[in-house]
Amino acid sequence: MRGYYGQRTGLPALQCWVNGAVHTFEGDLMDENDKVFAGSIPKFYDTLMVPLIFQAYADDLAQRVAASSPGSVLETAAGSGVVTRALASQLKPDARYVVTDLNQPMLDYAATRQGSDSRIEWRQADALDLPFDDASFDVVCCQFGAMFFPNRVAGYAEARRVLRPGGRFIFNVWDRIEENYFADDVTQAVATVFPHDPPRFLARTPHGYHDIALIREDLRRAGFADIGIETRAELSRAPSARDAATAYCQGTPLRNEIEARDASLLQLATDRATQAIASRHGEGSVAGKIQAHVIVAAG
Ligand SMILES: C[S@@+](CC[C@H](N)C(=O)[O-])C[C@H]1O[C@@H](n2cnc3c(N)ncnc32)[C@H](O)[C@@H]1O
Repeated sequence: MRGYYGQRTGLPALQCWVNGAVHTFEGDLMDENDKVFAGSIPKFYDTLMVPLIFQAYADDLAQRVAASSPGSVLETAAGSGVVTRALASQLKPDARYVVTDLNQPMLDYAATRQGSDSRIEWRQADALDLPFDDASFDVVCCQFGAMFFPNRVAGYAEARRVLRPGGRFIFNVWDRIEENYFADDVTQAVATVFPHDPPRFLARTPHGYHDIALIREDLRRAGFADIGIETRAELSRAPSARDAATAYCQGTPLRNEIEARDASLLQLATDRATQAIASRHGEGSVAGKIQAHVIVAAG
């Protein structure tokens, strides 16, 4: 990705190439960039990040969705398809499973990983503006996507709109960054490379929406009446500190943030993150706590 800063309407603007097209972002540059999962990110994301922190929660989410034997499921912010792979085999032979994400490159990657399955329909869609009729699904599920919604109440209301009466919205969000050790280590280490303008993507977005009272309030404002929230800790494992550091620095939009400052420092940032994880969690294979909230909303 190449980018340059410009000026329009008095707000900072960023134009960059994503998969051959020019995208213009205005307003808070980094917040806009936070939701861009494109270029080399989908591959790094799926091969490094997914086994590191997403697989265990995907298995949990899939089990919760499948428990009611739904006839129709909508997945939003599906990314590279870790939940899809866990859930498809548990759904009924005649189930309808619509899998969506804002970023087409993530969906393209997901489709290549999924075996042929006529029940699955892949579709690019913004979770805040779903191209589906009211009351079309028994379950809407979303793994670690809500933190990226620019307006969570609107996103939740949209999930509720497409749910049939009695349907359930099942999703998860990360807990605070201090409860997610590698993410915290990486954020602190990368800050040493850019001390005057530290990249804060991980703290700001994936780990920026963890207040249970706020989540409940947002869901109530979206119309949900019945809300259950469970906090769930897991262990994140990687073959080496470098694998974990590369996953965070190069397989998430943290990469966009580093490259926007100085693309030539991506490797140094990854090296610093590697050293930080190794010094705290040891040489060789590493393990660190991760923690998330799992939410089931209905009514
Ligand atoms: C952390 S990834 C999670 C992906 C996947 N659910 C998983 O568990 O690996 C966040 C995903 O949210 C997607 N996303 C961001 N904003 C979105 C929006 N407004 N609507 C739908 N998807 C969105 C991104 O494209 C990205 O794939």
